[in-house]
Amino acid sequence: MLLLFLLPLVFSYKVTFKSFIQKKKYENPFNEDILQVLDAMHRSGLHIHKLLSYSNVENLQGFYSENSLNIHQEKQKKLDLLSDKIIRSNVCGIESLGSIFSEEDDNIVKMKKDHKLIFCYDPLDGSSNIDTHMPTGTIFSCYNDGHYFQENKQVINSQGSLVLSGYLLYSSSLHFVFYYEKSVYHFMYDDLYKDFILIHDNIKIPKKGNQYSINEGKINSFHKNHKLYLEKCKKENYSSRYYGCLVADFHNVIMNGGIFMYPKDIVKNKSKIRLLYEAKPLAKIIEEMGGICVDEEIHIHKKKIKDIHETTPIYFGSNENMVDFIEFCRKN
Ligand code: F6P
Repeated sequence: MLLLFLLPLVFSYKVTFKSFIQKKKYENPFNEDILQVLDAMHRSGLHIHKLLSYSNVENLQGFYSENSLNIHQEKQKKLDLLSDKIIRSNVCGIESLGSIFSEEDDNIVKMKKDHKLIFCYDPLDGSSNIDTHMPTGTIFSCYNDGHYFQENKQVINSQGSLVLSGYLLYSSSLHFVFYYEKSVYHFMYDDLYKDFILIHDNIKIPKKGNQYSINEGKINSFHKNHKLYLEKCKKENYSSRYYGCLVADFHNVIMNGGIFMYPKDIVKNKSKIRLLYEAKPLAKIIEEMGGICVDEEIHIHKKKIKDIHETTPIYFGSNENMVDFIEFCRKN
């Protein structure tokens, strides 16, 4: 009798990442190059995840060197640079890639002048979590120039050029979430299958949630409106969650609903989140899922890049929470 109940579990049909890629290639052979990028990211994710879990044993923790800084003057960790290398070596063989932008590299890697895809990535997001094995992630995006051969920034700023964006979350389990052809897919690694398994092929964010996520320790440098909004969340009995890794905080918000905020530091007149490598790819995903992602004036997906390494304030979350937040800031 018990076996009868268990049979559907044992034989339930699972879509693996490999079969997903094959199916998509068959459906649209013209997108083969974009699917190659996706495949390269899936391999990179598995490799980075392994290194993160062995980091103590293999002496991969800590900073690369005292004077190795990225463009944001942050000290680079060994695993920041290793992850960067892994991703670069996995994508650089893709024939259609024209340029590669990495958060860890001040320069653009120009591959081929007349090739159409632009690939951008943050190799290891949430670096301060690396050495304590707290959640970290990888964020990536891909822009397509069609056959216009425009200059890189022009391509990135043109409507509809973002054709792929996603992230890998390295946590107690390994997640691969991406936007492709108007859907957001959620895969999770299954050790039994030795592959990612499709969990959802069109995820939507809950319309409303009762969690807020922000580094509240920095409250003294927030704008008055944001301080007041936090008071409101508390009065309404919201719970607070903050992982210190944008990918992890993003994943939590899209699963549970609610709001995430990383405001501008008004004392230093500085923002932290990178527009090209972090904000734009995640904005595309959350907007496609029915949520909202803005800076203080405009939807992040409409914000034009002026500098490839520029930073931005960011607020994202469930539709109702965001409408309420925007309205609140407007009135106060
Ligand atoms: O932008 C890098 C990053 O590590 C994000 O992943 C994260 O959201 C943020 O910085 C954390 O910054 P802080 O430690 O200032 O809260």
